[in-house]
Amino acid sequence: MAYNLLKGKRGIITGALDQNSIAWKVAEKAHEEGATFVLTNAPIAMRMGEINSLAEKTNSQIIPADATNVDELTNLFVQSQEILGGKIDFVLHSIGMSINIRKKIPYTDSNYDYYMKGLDVSALSFHKMLSVAKKLDAISEWGSVVALTYMAAQRTYPFYTDMADIKAMLESIARSFGYHYGVEKKVRINTVSQSPTKTTAGTGIKGFGDFYDYADAIAPLGNADAESCADYCITLFSDLTRMVTMQNLFHDGGYSSTGVSDAIMSKLGVESK
Ligand SMILES: NC(=O)c1ccc[n+]([C@@H]2O[C@H](COP(=O)([O-])OP(=O)(O)OC[C@H]3O[C@@H](n4cnc5c(N)ncnc54)[C@H](O)[C@@H]3O)[C@@H](O)[C@H]2O)c1
Repeated sequence: MAYNLLKGKRGIITGALDQNSIAWKVAEKAHEEGATFVLTNAPIAMRMGEINSLAEKTNSQIIPADATNVDELTNLFVQSQEILGGKIDFVLHSIGMSINIRKKIPYTDSNYDYYMKGLDVSALSFHKMLSVAKKLDAISEWGSVVALTYMAAQRTYPFYTDMADIKAMLESIARSFGYHYGVEKKVRINTVSQSPTKTTAGTGIKGFGDFYDYADAIAPLGNADAESCADYCITLFSDLTRMVTMQNLFHDGGYSSTGVSDAIMSKLGVESK
């Protein structure tokens, strides 16, 4: 059911790779809620071509941009305003990549070239995007920017390796930039800390399947799926959350507040008295 929450709003949505991507669901929902937006992804991700069907379905144009490249990000914000006919009201940062994870390199043996690449793609890209937008004054007052993150920024998950540090930085950028952009332009910046989700980035993590089941058994509501994450992002882009900024918001079915669950105890073979 749609509520017209984003009627008249203009946006930029990064990171829709295929139908499993969280960003894909956000684009579908934003379209349902009345927004117009530009889709963007790294030029290399375009080669698979799946994004074209999303663009068609949502009447959107695609602007390729490597999120580590300031010139390409500048072009993205300039062109998006031209295409959409005004300043941008919402931006989704849904970008994550770790070569150390992909190559299954243990955290303590991290390759530093890969580490720096992961940092640039997954965290610094957020700062670059915000800095470009601010210089161009491309985001409207009370506009909303959301980046997706994971709880390994607060607690240790050994298999998440360098991405844990990188997500901690991403969340810090949301707070630091959120202060400056808030004071100057009333732009809101938040991170959404999402449950494990079966996407290309998610399932690339060693042991993801077992961990997915573990988190599902801990969370009282079970793991939050990509579609419900998209719903949550839509509320953050809407005017109904206009005083929310500089927050890391857990969207995880209650996982982050649960110490232990009956379900996990019984999986361990411990009977409750
Ligand atoms: N899947 C999960 O379990 C999970 C949980 C919490 C948070 N997240 C976060 O959600 C976000 C989206 O990931 P997803 O799970 O939808 O997976 P996904 O693989 O569908 O999306 C990741 C996207 O990042 C894009 N990307 C990579 N390098 C880029 C670059 N240089 N420039 C521009 N785009 C680039 C990819 O092309 C892809 O579209 C990521 O930040 C991820 O860390 C995912």
